[in-house]
Amino acid sequence: MKLFIDDANLEAIKEINEYYPVDGVTTNPSILAKAKRDPRETLKAIREIIGEDKIIFAQAVDLSFEGMIKDAHMIVELLGKNTVVKLPSTPTGFKAMMALKKEGITTCGTVVYTPMQAYLAAKAGASYVAPYVNRIDNMGYDGVRVVQQIQDILDNNAMDCEVLAASFKNSQQVLELAEYGVGNATCAADVIKGFVKNLAIDGAIQDFVDDFKALTGRTSMSDLD
Ligand code: E4P
Repeated sequence: MKLFIDDANLEAIKEINEYYPVDGVTTNPSILAKAKRDPRETLKAIREIIGEDKIIFAQAVDLSFEGMIKDAHMIVELLGKNTVVKLPSTPTGFKAMMALKKEGITTCGTVVYTPMQAYLAAKAGASYVAPYVNRIDNMGYDGVRVVQQIQDILDNNAMDCEVLAASFKNSQQVLELAEYGVGNATCAADVIKGFVKNLAIDGAIQDFVDDFKALTGRTSMSDLD
């Protein structure tokens, strides 16, 4: 499973990108709004942090077909290669996915709440579909199960499209999807940090250092005489 940072906080992206094996960054208009600056500047800064080889996802905001196409062109122009344009998985979004596929622009069908929405986005040519796990849970359904269904639909129909599971609030949701072999997950920086935030881990590591120091008086191998 590839792992993306679902965030536009530049400090958080810098830190996660440096210390964790991530594959890129995903954004949406609400995430960009939290950065409180021109969204183009934020996206360019994210591209600079992650470099040109990692993937960045940015969403078209206009809800008309023509506007989605214009937004997609602008996003790709701004961010260069390894850019994926997110489009809502709606009839207008499907039309834009089909048109952009012909132009060779990579798209992601986002705002996915149902498996059939994902099926249609994949069929329309989207390279990714983004189901919202936690939001589905909050509606009283099982978000993890919906994502598994979508992964099955894509696999069983040999569709050229990957799941980008999104909207996570805890490690357990991500763990269940990693175990299932879902293609991609995108998580806010604090959710990614939560994967290894554990007092048992910290305690075990400190014990190793303390035991070594008791033996040698040193806290690193390279300090030994
Ligand atoms: C990513 O593609 C989604 O836009 C995002 O994960 C939604 O997350 P939220 O439900 O926390 O807003």
